Amino acid sequence: MKQIPPDHPHNFWRQANMHCLYCTGAYDQANSSALFKIHRSWLFFPWHRAFIYFHERILGKFMGDDTFALPYWSWDTPEGMWFPDIYRKGALNETERDAIHLREPAVDDFDYVDHDLASDVQIADNLAFMYHQMISGAKKTELFMGCKLRSGVEGWCDGPGTIEAAPHNTLHSWVGNRYNPERENMGAFYSAARDEVFYAHHSNIDRMWTVWKKLHGNKPEFVDQEWLESEFTFYDENVRLRRIKVRDVLNIDKLRYQYEDIDMPWLAARPKPSVDPKIARNILKKRDGEGVLRMPGETDRSRVYEHGSWTLDKTITVRVDRPRINRTRQEKEEEEEILVVYGIDTKRSRFVKFDVFINAVEETVLSPKSREFAGTFVNLHHVSRTKSHEDGGEGSKMKSHLKLGISELLEDLEADEDDSIWVTLVPRGGTGVNTTVDGVRIDYMK
Ligand code: C2O
Repeated sequence: MKQIPPDHPHNFWRQANMHCLYCTGAYDQANSSALFKIHRSWLFFPWHRAFIYFHERILGKFMGDDTFALPYWSWDTPEGMWFPDIYRKGALNETERDAIHLREPAVDDFDYVDHDLASDVQIADNLAFMYHQMISGAKKTELFMGCKLRSGVEGWCDGPGTIEAAPHNTLHSWVGNRYNPERENMGAFYSAARDEVFYAHHSNIDRMWTVWKKLHGNKPEFVDQEWLESEFTFYDENVRLRRIKVRDVLNIDKLRYQYEDIDMPWLAARPKPSVDPKIARNILKKRDGEGVLRMPGETDRSRVYEHGSWTLDKTITVRVDRPRINRTRQEKEEEEEILVVYGIDTKRSRFVKFDVFINAVEETVLSPKSREFAGTFVNLHHVSRTKSHEDGGEGSKMKSHLKLGISELLEDLEADEDDSIWVTLVPRGGTGVNTTVDGVRIDYMK
């Protein structure tokens, strides 16, 4: 694929540029001036499935092997938590990667920005992280799949699902070369698919979708025409331009592939509170009213806070009211309690990461291994054609949000009866200096 002429659609760099095309705002949506984008919404899983599907078919054609299947990088399992060896060899090798992370033994850091942990600690962290992103934090479809991006300027949303935020984004960044401005290749969307490991990374992302779907009884994700009818175009293995819809990729049997069942120890890696909840509660009670950064402009504990925005150049702790307490088991199953961090403005499209913790006290281990961890926001660098606000573009006032499912976590923290919780936002690796957040609130999701 690397040797055939650059104007041939099967040329490797042209393949890589397909990803670039769809992610940098090269296209407008049909019948609209709004930018087309495939990240940070419910289009993330289906688009990438279609992309690697055709890529796989093309590879199979070159090999003369109709049964060829792309390998998946099983980073969710302890054995798979190292950079896969096969991608260090021959045509699969790539120079634009982080040499330090690829030096043995380096366990993939799902929480990547500024960590340096021993392998066994990192593996335990990763498993707890997977549990959170796949199970407790992903009880509702939108939490897993991402926000409902609708057509047109009004339909714009920016809210990735759990797995997309991390480990998807964090591993992109972890693999990319730290000496390149945006950690190219893997660290930036425009260049990511130039690294062959991209396809194995996305096979595993795709696998995670099938695993999550199975955990939820293989029910349809969204019964929504706008999603089902969203369509993309790709060249197939016979160099015919194909139109493919989201509805065409939902059943992998029809795409003629399957994932083997392998051991997934993260299924049982439910995190534990790092501080005994009773002790934490006593400390938190004393905290009331003293020395705590409150929401700017907050005068009483009314539910609608009017304030400016916070800059994430430092850790921020706020108390947030819970509109409903003592919900029954059934109510909780029907509606997941959601912590919404809203109005996130990353200003420039840089790598930004911050983590969210609930009821954390001084002694709390601020890591995804602890139950206090509610989720993470990760923005990967993406260059984009800039459009004005009216056009639905970037550089506009269109901000992101982060929705985190917290019902199970509140039970484990014994905070389910409290009428408020403490929320701590922890910017990582100094990446939050230009990022602002408008606020935090509790919501419910069906
Ligand atoms: Cu389109 Cu892993 O990114």
